[in-house]
Amino acid sequence: MLQSPSSCAMGPLFRLWWFIPLMLAVNIEAQQKTSLKINTICLGNVMRVDVGPLGGKLLEVAVATNNSVVVLTPSLASQCGFSVKKETPGNALIYVSLPNCFAQNVDDKIFTTTLHLRVHGNRYAEDELYQVTEACHYTAWASREIVCNHNYMEVSVNRALPHDYTLPKHPVPQSNSKAVNSRRAAEKQPVDAGFRMTTIVFFTPEGEKPMSVANAQESGYGIGNTPSRLVLRSPMMAPETYHQNVAGVTMRVFKTSIIFEKKWLATQIDAAAACPVQEGSVFFNSGIITWYLPRQIDPMITSGHYNLMEVHFGINGQRLDGAEMQARQYSLSLNDLYIVTQIPIGAVGGYYKSHIQHNQYYVSYMIEPMLEMLWTEDSSHEHTRYKVLFHIATHLLPRHLQLVDNTVPAEQTFKMVLGHFALDVVLLNVTFPSEVLSMADCNARGFHIMEHMAVNGSMKVFVLQVPFTDPVVSKQNGDGVVIYSLHMTFGLLVLDSFVPFSHTAQVEAVLQNSVSPSVSGGCDHHNFHIIVKYGTQGFSFQTTVGKRLMTPSLAQHYNYLENGTHFSFTVPFSSPDVAIEAIEESSIRNRLDVVLSSPETNAQIQDFSLVCNFPSGLTVCFPNGTMTALAVKVESVPTLNPRQLTLKDPSCGPVYSNDHYAYFVFAVNSCGTTRKFLPDAMVYENEISLPDELEMQMAPELPEYELQVSCSYDISKSHAVAFNTRQRRSEPFAENSKGQLQIEMRLASDDSYSKFQKIEEYPIAKYLQQPLYFEVQLMKSTNPQVSLQLENCWATQDKDRNSQPRWNLIINSCPNPVDPYQVVFHPVQTDARVHYPSHFKRFEVQMFAFAEGQDDLSSQVFVHCDIVICHTKMQLSGVCGVECSDPKNGPKGQRRDAHDSSHVYVGPLIINK
Ligand SMILES: *[C@@H]1O[C@H](CO)[C@@H](O)[C@H](O)[C@H]1NC(C)=O
Ligand SMILES: *[C@@H]1O[C@H](CO)[C@@H](O)[C@H](O)[C@H]1NC(C)=O
Ligand SMILES: *[C@@H]1O[C@H](CO)[C@@H](O)[C@H](O)[C@H]1NC(C)=O
Ligand SMILES: *[C@@H]1O[C@H](CO)[C@@H](O)[C@H](O)[C@H]1NC(C)=O
Ligand SMILES: *[C@@H]1O[C@H](CO)[C@@H](O)[C@H](O)[C@H]1NC(C)=O
Repeated sequence: MLQSPSSCAMGPLFRLWWFIPLMLAVNIEAQQKTSLKINTICLGNVMRVDVGPLGGKLLEVAVATNNSVVVLTPSLASQCGFSVKKETPGNALIYVSLPNCFAQNVDDKIFTTTLHLRVHGNRYAEDELYQVTEACHYTAWASREIVCNHNYMEVSVNRALPHDYTLPKHPVPQSNSKAVNSRRAAEKQPVDAGFRMTTIVFFTPEGEKPMSVANAQESGYGIGNTPSRLVLRSPMMAPETYHQNVAGVTMRVFKTSIIFEKKWLATQIDAAAACPVQEGSVFFNSGIITWYLPRQIDPMITSGHYNLMEVHFGINGQRLDGAEMQARQYSLSLNDLYIVTQIPIGAVGGYYKSHIQHNQYYVSYMIEPMLEMLWTEDSSHEHTRYKVLFHIATHLLPRHLQLVDNTVPAEQTFKMVLGHFALDVVLLNVTFPSEVLSMADCNARGFHIMEHMAVNGSMKVFVLQVPFTDPVVSKQNGDGVVIYSLHMTFGLLVLDSFVPFSHTAQVEAVLQNSVSPSVSGGCDHHNFHIIVKYGTQGFSFQTTVGKRLMTPSLAQHYNYLENGTHFSFTVPFSSPDVAIEAIEESSIRNRLDVVLSSPETNAQIQDFSLVCNFPSGLTVCFPNGTMTALAVKVESVPTLNPRQLTLKDPSCGPVYSNDHYAYFVFAVNSCGTTRKFLPDAMVYENEISLPDELEMQMAPELPEYELQVSCSYDISKSHAVAFNTRQRRSEPFAENSKGQLQIEMRLASDDSYSKFQKIEEYPIAKYLQQPLYFEVQLMKSTNPQVSLQLENCWATQDKDRNSQPRWNLIINSCPNPVDPYQVVFHPVQTDARVHYPSHFKRFEVQMFAFAEGQDDLSSQVFVHCDIVICHTKMQLSGVCGVECSDPKNGPKGQRRDAHDSSHVYVGPLIINK
């Protein structure tokens, strides 16, 4: 009986747990429990187990046999068909040959391998144990299959002998030629039951070297049988292997014959493998890796006629299709001699590894390409599948480490990027002149140290921020500036090799001394003009005008202008953003508030208020007795709704109103307007307020809103001389005392001139042709030397003395000669009221209408007089000297300039119909 496949490989070598060997990445810092991912994949005659992330822990691989667990040492791995490779730090790839020493093999079709993985970290953490069992199906066995891995060469051949070809049992073949001669036949014969492997003959350039199977196994060779195949495995650099130049490429060759014996019979099976080594087959040029593999591997080909049927390329044992290769910028080509593979350094699929030499940082790029070939030899029609799991490492590439300073001084934080590093580097600490901080310290200080992937994930950078306010930052005051500087030495470590290294760098930032933005402004008759000057932080604030944030549309509305250092805008005094502080005599006191604040925190940076008085006619008095008044909302009565305001008569509301003001138009004889008489002025007064019932509803603590409006008509001047608004409870405003000549013209009830119409009684109604008795008096004069003269008197329909039509009553002190109802002068006598008759003039006119006889008689009449005051000593010329001896002959004497005279009038007088 043949020995069982597993027992054949089981020597006395592995009976113990072995701890040493296949250590992987170590991460000193973070050793928290990670959730390990284990993935298995069947890749033809090889299985791959991916393990990661290890998070800096050690991985120990053991294999289960029927009744024990054997830890893989490097020699056991190469003897039994295992290899463990690191990928990027923290991941391991375990390659398992399907016909490995420990596989449970069902008919060379199903191969089941069980691995025990032990992950052990620092001395305090408990080990984690994982078991992985995977069955791979593989039936596409070629007559010969060769696997080249970095630590072993494996060849398996179909154990078939086509006819009973026997060799003499002893001696074993002594010459190379003899063995070659016999091989052709031997390979065709099934080595059936009863044959026993006894001897292995190694062929080397120095000659043949027979060795018993047991000795060969003890020397580290793997020799096994499966149901139909013979499996041989040699460590890559075993003493019985040798280098051979194949088409210019150095290959390691393992060439044997196995002798089988059965009683007196002996037979042999030849098996050879040749695997490439990196030296002499891989070239680096302009960032491209070029790998040459001979397409005809002579040590394994006996006849000249050879037919290459398939070529496959892959990475990490896994085939890639053309599209994927193109995407990764790999290329594969065949020429007469070679299969040529090209891979850009840094391409996806590989990884960088760090090296330190003289504290200089270097990386090498690693990649594990795979080439698979299938060929036949014409002579035997037997297929050979040849698989190389290759390992390429570039020479050391210097990497200039750089600290990129991305600091924006205004942000008051150093922002830096340190790189680029391979993924196997960790940052342990940062040394500042004053102290050394670990990563944990740095993060506690708010330095936000983070790792970012770079260069498509194959390298990384460290990103960190150090606030200017941190004690490790040194500050120096310059001329109007502060200079911040930071000196750092980064303490780094390469994980695999535990080699520490460092990088020193210095950064500096200059910041202008901080100045806050400022606001200034002024007013013209209608507008507030505001200028905002930026501070050293630039335009980094938001602006509130009144109660509103300055939005782009509001800015446009306020004629916003900006020039990089300042902006300005103009707010009309009537804008809703303006607060009304008070209403004063003929002006309104308004305030504009401008606040600059931080958009992030809303903290106030600047608070600016500008108060200006704007001239404003809030009340207008028209000569025709119409008054208009504007009531505006004042800041002290915020709840006021101006729409609800009325005049004294609550039925008189505003003709127009909104949230901010109410506009009233009313006649002086309506809406509860009262009249008041001053010696020489007539004052109409009204008041704008809330109706009583609404006033009650307003909060009692708020001031009431009462706006007094008044119009003062100067009686002697016959036109409105002043208007004024006042808050209630203030002194009445009187502006019309001019201190000049005061003359009064009145209408007496009858020719006794003892009773007069009161001014309040105007307009006075009279019937047509009813006599009107006028008296004109010089007031407040005690000078008997002066006399009052009526220069001209006339009637108009309108209050305007110059209006048309006009009817002359007295011309140049004499009755109008063409008037059919001539004026009659009445003499004035001294009495209780009249002290100086020369200060008076009395005349009588019959009430008349203009355009008499027509239907549209004007209903009112005003009577005007121009008055001249004459000195009794100088009544020689002009009006003062006029005598109307014969009124019918017209006036005598000279005309005078009217503007020297004073003017009075009475009216309106209404015609009763
Ligand atoms: C292992 O167990 C299988 C069945 O479970 C058996 O067929 C095989 O012979 C055993 N091998 C050894 C070495 O005990
Ligand atoms: C990242 O990958 C893309 C496509 O794979 C490539 O074009 C680009 O050059 C790579 N960038 C770097 C920095 O390597
Ligand atoms: C800082 O890290 C480096 C590794 O580069 C190490 O050699 C050094 O001892 C550390 N210093 C401190 C104070 O931990
Ligand atoms: C910007 O405007 C302000 C105010 O009008 C002025 O003082 C300043 O010189 C202007 N700056 C520039 C750069 O035009
Ligand atoms: C009084 O005069 C004003 C201004 O000319 C005019 O608007 C108003 O209509 C007039 N009122 C009357 C009652 O004639």
